[in-house]
Amino acid sequence: MKRLLACFLALSLLTGCSAGKNADKKVKIGVTVYDSYDTFISELMTNFNADVTSRENITIETYNANKSQTSQNKQVEDMINDGCDVICVNLVDRTAPKKIIDLARKNNVPIIFFNRELVEEDLQQWEGLYYVGADAEESGVMEGEIAADACKQDGADKNGDGMIQYIVLEGEAGHQDAIVRTEKSVNTLIQDGLSVDKITSAIANWNRSQAQTKMAQYITQYGSSIELVLGNNDDMSLGAIDAYKAAEIDQSDWPVIVGIDGTKAGLQAVENHEMVGTVYNDQKGQATAMANLAYALATGGSLDDLGLTDGKYIWLPYQKVTQDNVSDYLSDMQ
Ligand code: GAL
Repeated sequence: MKRLLACFLALSLLTGCSAGKNADKKVKIGVTVYDSYDTFISELMTNFNADVTSRENITIETYNANKSQTSQNKQVEDMINDGCDVICVNLVDRTAPKKIIDLARKNNVPIIFFNRELVEEDLQQWEGLYYVGADAEESGVMEGEIAADACKQDGADKNGDGMIQYIVLEGEAGHQDAIVRTEKSVNTLIQDGLSVDKITSAIANWNRSQAQTKMAQYITQYGSSIELVLGNNDDMSLGAIDAYKAAEIDQSDWPVIVGIDGTKAGLQAVENHEMVGTVYNDQKGQATAMANLAYALATGGSLDDLGLTDGKYIWLPYQKVTQDNVSDYLSDMQ
């Protein structure tokens, strides 16, 4: 009994979260991501793995769904058969969680969905379903605020027509972050008193090289009339920067470029003055929240201090990053 208690205490101290009656049991966590080549997801997973492997008695099994929902469904089935106590799912198709929910309910294995938000009705289908992520609207508003501040500076309105001509590089069609960030960033610019004029927008699927290809076309087509590039994420804004560099356009002639995520490369671009700012999508906080929740669910621990909203959601706030604070974020990177 003494040994058990000591083990429980050591584990609680180590994990910083409440362990339940089965605190000494070996915990197996399964994870499947929609695409392990996505920069933000891969950085999030680096944090998650570091957090989980620093705890005792936990093993982790990770799969890449490689953008196939059918593969992901099969992976969840395999992880359940392998005895995973809880499974973290970064859905490929956020509108198609049915198969996974049915499997989870049938086998009584809790699921923590993350990053790609399913609709609330789906999350309500069974008590063992949770979501960890960030509020898309907040990121769009913050991106718009950073862009507005930069566009009010002398020289941003290059043709002096009193309007900001802009391009949006959008993430995947149908993704909550792409839809909401596009709408909110532009609305925030307008609410901040700027007159804006949309040149065009393009879907580049969160992807740096797709964004570079689109942007190269736009540079040829619209040249110096582009005054602002709003990327739905850092990788696409970095793709825009790649296009300006490849076109050998002097940096002083680039438009204002803003991103979202605060990936390592995104933060470096802010530090180098290539992007005016980004919005930090708290990869560390989300990883820790997932690890704490997974551990508590697997061991029957209390969920009371995990910051759950409506007993289902853990929301991590976004943060604005500009020249003023970028060094704090860079020094905190893995
Ligand atoms: C967003 C993130 C993107 C991409 C996407 C994948 O939250 O900003 O960079 O990772 O998730 O679902």
